[in-house]
Amino acid sequence: MSLLSDPALQARVDALQAQSQAQEPQTHGYFAARAKANDLSWDGLDADANRFMADKLVALEPVKAEFCHMLVRALRATRVVEVGTSFGVSTLYLADAVRANGGGVVIGTEYEPAKAAAARASFAQAGVADLIDLREGDLRETLKVIEGPVDFVLMDIWTEMARPALELIHPHLRPGAVIVADNTTTFRHAYRHFFAFVEDPANGLKTLTLPFDGGLEMVVRV
Ligand SMILES: C[S@@+](CC[C@H](N)C(=O)[O-])C[C@H]1O[C@@H](n2cnc3c(N)ncnc32)[C@H](O)[C@@H]1O
Repeated sequence: MSLLSDPALQARVDALQAQSQAQEPQTHGYFAARAKANDLSWDGLDADANRFMADKLVALEPVKAEFCHMLVRALRATRVVEVGTSFGVSTLYLADAVRANGGGVVIGTEYEPAKAAAARASFAQAGVADLIDLREGDLRETLKVIEGPVDFVLMDIWTEMARPALELIHPHLRPGAVIVADNTTTFRHAYRHFFAFVEDPANGLKTLTLPFDGGLEMVVRV
């Protein structure tokens, strides 16, 4: 049984997940070839990789998105920040959970204009546009202002952006807030600046890597 409460939203999610999964062999092939040529950096995508990724959904896997949905419900979250929106697949799950909590906002972030436009079309089609504040542009600018305490954060972003995003969001986390970050086992080294912040006792965070595929970090603001 699906966790999602609305058939129109479920239909949009299913279509986008299928589109994302269909792109995966091409994406794996691209990065495998570049890795084989020893041509990748742990510190960010270069111009060629950015161009390649400009139309890739890279949607959060369904089971991870459902886990985020459960956490948002459990926290009774009304203010959620999504770091990395792409075509808005995880955003739809988060908005569905916030709506089930009685309403609120999901702040999304996306710097590819075509992805942001596609996401907005899906939000309208699924009937959740009024719950989503999609901020277009580089998140290091667009997350400078966050109004009110944040209950939940999904960190699903190119890894080098995880630390700058966390530094901007951290002052707004309410006690008990949860941050979920994707692929922290696979990309542990690339996440090293993020982990340095998370593991600094001065920042009041506790973390556990959950055994989802690729590792899924669950960080709590204690
Ligand atoms: C992994 S995808 C997000 C997938 C999305 N959460 C989902 O489940 O559908 C990460 C997205 O972050 C965007 N992005 C990367 N760096 C960014 C930045 N500095 N500011 C805003 N968006 C960025 C990329 O264009 C990409 O679409």
